Amino acid sequence: MLFTSILSCLLLLSPGGALARAAPRDNVLDKRLSYTNVADFETFETPIALAGLYANIGPDGSKSQGAKSGVVIASPSTSNPDYLYTWTRDAALVYKYIVDRFTSGRDSSLRTKIDNFVGHVARIQQVSNPSGTVSTGGLGEPKFLISEAAFTGGWGRPQRDGPALRATTLIAYANWLIANSNTTHVRNVLWPILLLDLNYVSNSWNSTGFDLWEEVNGASFFTTAVQHRALREGIALATALGDPSSTVAAWTTQAQNIFCFLQSYWSSSSGFIVANVNPGNGAIRSGKDANTVLTSVHTFDPAAGCDSRTFQPCSDKALANLKVYVDSFRSIYSINSGIASNAAVATGRYPEDSYYGGNPWYLTTFAVAEQLYRALQVWDAEGKGINVTSISLPFFQQFNSSATVTTIPAGSASYTTLTTAIKTFADGFALKGAQYAPSSGALAEQYTRGAGTPTSAADLTWSYASVLTMFDARDNLAVDGWGAASLTLPNTCSTGGGGGSAATVNFRETATTVWGENIYLVGSIDALKNWDPNNAIGPLDNTNTYPVWRVSVSIPAGTYFEYKYIRKNNGVVTWESGSNRVNTAPAAGATLTINDTWK
Ligand SMILES: *[C@@H]1O[C@H](CO)[C@@H](O)[C@H](O)[C@H]1NC(C)=O
Ligand SMILES: *[C@@H]1O[C@H](CO)[C@@H](O)[C@H](O)[C@H]1NC(C)=O
Ligand SMILES: *[C@@H]1O[C@H](CO)[C@@H](O)[C@H](O)[C@H]1NC(C)=O
Ligand SMILES: *[C@@H]1O[C@H](CO)[C@@H](O)[C@H](O)[C@H]1NC(C)=O
Ligand SMILES: *[C@@H]1O[C@H](CO)[C@@H](O)[C@H](O)[C@H]1NC(C)=O
Repeated sequence: MLFTSILSCLLLLSPGGALARAAPRDNVLDKRLSYTNVADFETFETPIALAGLYANIGPDGSKSQGAKSGVVIASPSTSNPDYLYTWTRDAALVYKYIVDRFTSGRDSSLRTKIDNFVGHVARIQQVSNPSGTVSTGGLGEPKFLISEAAFTGGWGRPQRDGPALRATTLIAYANWLIANSNTTHVRNVLWPILLLDLNYVSNSWNSTGFDLWEEVNGASFFTTAVQHRALREGIALATALGDPSSTVAAWTTQAQNIFCFLQSYWSSSSGFIVANVNPGNGAIRSGKDANTVLTSVHTFDPAAGCDSRTFQPCSDKALANLKVYVDSFRSIYSINSGIASNAAVATGRYPEDSYYGGNPWYLTTFAVAEQLYRALQVWDAEGKGINVTSISLPFFQQFNSSATVTTIPAGSASYTTLTTAIKTFADGFALKGAQYAPSSGALAEQYTRGAGTPTSAADLTWSYASVLTMFDARDNLAVDGWGAASLTLPNTCSTGGGGGSAATVNFRETATTVWGENIYLVGSIDALKNWDPNNAIGPLDNTNTYPVWRVSVSIPAGTYFEYKYIRKNNGVVTWESGSNRVNTAPAAGATLTINDTWK
């Protein structure tokens, strides 16, 4: 099932397929929104976005007929592209907004919806799918039918951010339940679900998977960061519930390893966060990607100040990165032409994007505003001024060309001038989304780079959630932190196996072959060549044992891994069918022999 070439990957990229091209829908844009201030846009858009969000949630959403209770459809669009599925990531992010809206006391009627989602998660976790069963990797499956049946077509799977995001959403609800004297429900209903997702994160964070755009197979900054956050929150909840210390200890070890690995995405030579490392399918990208901005927004912890190790919105690294990301769209979208180099522009997923022609997205443009609003909120709340560092200097020079490395004292005239300019800059991104939305306020996935007309999926649920969380940030609404403030960064990083010492794994594959054909091994970790068929281990040895093909591989002790055998004949690669095989290396120095048969 894994991709044997960049071409086959491109054919599967993002929901709907790269080759689909929707006709521009200029006709629906005879009237556009034309707001000049964000407060007016918020007043108009909020009820529309809420209605759009709820319409896409089963069992009774007006645009989601057939969706099971608690299922979030990605969009009602059934063709060009077909998004009538539920994605774990989208659903978790949408429900995080719903849980926050509920726990902040804004709408007590949402509790039923949230309980529906909990029921949905409990069911969907148990659905066997092409990524595996609940215990063999199936939790990493990215999307399902809205009936909760498995989606069995080819796809970029697994995607390892989903279980982490879902855990963060459920933990927000669990913390509210505990604070409201309902620990019993947390222990009996939520905790068994959370244990599955958090153990999956703890065991498999160091295995390759597809990024949030479903294109790059490797390690993704967004995925690593949300895994880190989820495990930290999980540790706190496990401790509060008095769970066995062995669980807490295992998760703490892995959280430290993830935290360490997270640092490696920052490129000090380039001055931005490189969104994907060791992409196994050879994707050639600059690494500038909305992935990073979404990370600052979705791992925001108001108590962590401008901590750069967790890439908080006001951290020097996140601000420097934001400028590089935004600037990468200035010259490539014609709707951005003629705009001053320090003013807001339309932004998309990444500059090399070609899906639907490679357009700006509403949710990425809104995320820029959201990061800046959260930065302003922290500077004002902390009252410690603004640190301009050598890393963030280019960001601040957009607003004051003579800015220097210094601390600008809170309350000074410079502070007021600067924060006012940043607020105006942030509002500019919110108003970009407004400018390119139709007068109905409906939010599709994208708006075209040439004309700014809505395109790709209509009524994208995630677009509605993104405008709502942006408004919350602009209104300085509180969100829960996750302990980012009090972390200690390890001096050296370990892999997922933790131990550093190796175990021996003997692979034995029974496979009959034709003349000229050989068997190779490839899998999800460095030792198994990160799913790169061109670099696969082999040919395996069949001397005196044919049809049994053999190889011994040294794998870090305790490491969870996924793998498959492949056939190669004159450069033609054939993968084993079905879901990935999974296993875990034994203790340091121990040997595991695995006997497989070609499937
Ligand atoms: C605890 O919360 C669950 C889920 O909303 C609810 O069904 C149950 O009645 C609550 N129990 C108490 C004692 O409030
Ligand atoms: C696994 O962890 C190591 C050490 O931090 C890192 O070099 C490697 O890129 C990671 N791989 C994945 C897929 O997370
Ligand atoms: C500025 O940097 C100093 C030194 O790293 C730190 O102690 C202080 O908290 C920072 N201030 C702000 C506002 O981030
Ligand atoms: C711009 O930065 C310089 C150097 O820190 C400072 O002297 C000046 O007051 C700033 N300008 C404004 C308008 O704040
Ligand atoms: C695989 O086969 C070998 C040799 O027959 C045997 O020693 C080993 O126990 C088998 N491993 C498993 C997991 O069945």
